[in-house]
Amino acid sequence: MKGILLAGGAGSRLYPLTLVASKQLQPVYDKPMVYYPLTTLIEGGIREICLISTPQDLPRYRQLLGDGSRLGLSLEYREQVRPEGIAQAFRIGESFIGNDAVTLILGDNIFYGGDVFHQAFSQFGEGAMIFGYRVHDPERYGVVEFDNAGRALSIVEKPKEPRSNHAVPGLYLYDNTIVEIARNLRPSPRGELEITDVNCEYLRRGLLRVQKLSRGFAWLDAGTSSSLHEASAFVQTIEKRQGIKVGCPEEAAFRRGFLSLETLGELAGSMPRCEYRDYLTAVAEEARRSS
Ligand code: DAU
Repeated sequence: MKGILLAGGAGSRLYPLTLVASKQLQPVYDKPMVYYPLTTLIEGGIREICLISTPQDLPRYRQLLGDGSRLGLSLEYREQVRPEGIAQAFRIGESFIGNDAVTLILGDNIFYGGDVFHQAFSQFGEGAMIFGYRVHDPERYGVVEFDNAGRALSIVEKPKEPRSNHAVPGLYLYDNTIVEIARNLRPSPRGELEITDVNCEYLRRGLLRVQKLSRGFAWLDAGTSSSLHEASAFVQTIEKRQGIKVGCPEEAAFRRGFLSLETLGELAGSMPRCEYRDYLTAVAEEARRSS
């Protein structure tokens, strides 16, 4: 399974913050937003990742993440010249996807808790898999309606009158048919290649599975000023309470076996003196003691 991290878009909802740095580079508490979805992919065991962003912002992502080797990853970059829809990612990333299955994660989505994605990635076969998460404001999202047996009946993008409270979070798994489906998509009335149209096509073919995320699981999107602030508060609360970091790609890469203990120690040592470095040093020391 390969991973696409979509970190483009106009960023208009966060203006003027986004005048000089893209939305997914804004801080969510103590680290850039893009660290969180990147960590989700790494925790899920995905090593080959393609980051898509605007021509203006790509150099900054390259500066931040390099070729990924520091984290034991292979990281490629592709441009989205204009924000013509989330599903355009599969056209832009077609050569990256090759003959593989792919998961797409949105750069402003933050997930926390459990092992659900790792399991989903490792057990994934054919078709598509998406998730449903109960929210109080489903009209802001893609909304999935279920029948009594829990099977998906419909998915509608930002419905005025939602048929359920289950929003579709920005993490999607597709088999290689996605390449053909994305090629044949037509822009919606708002001029975008819609991810919801992709999911509806898999549903129409009888190949879509929707898994409900449990209430103990946290899904936040950080796409507006309020939700950005709430996401920061959430991360701060968990980190202070538990003494762990949420969305720490170095730690995730180490725990997934992408980095050796020695490399983790070196990585921490190469950082300026800061709380992040102290944290990674402590992770390495704890692992050394228990090995
Ligand atoms: O957050 C989950 C929701 O994401 C889903 O429930 C919806 O079905 C899906 O359409 C999407 O809704 P949004 O209103 O959040 O989409 P937005 O246009 O804000 O784009 C989400 C992210 O993707 C954002 O970080 C910017 C990036 N993006 C978006 C578009 C349209 C791109 O990089 N390129 C694009 O062309």
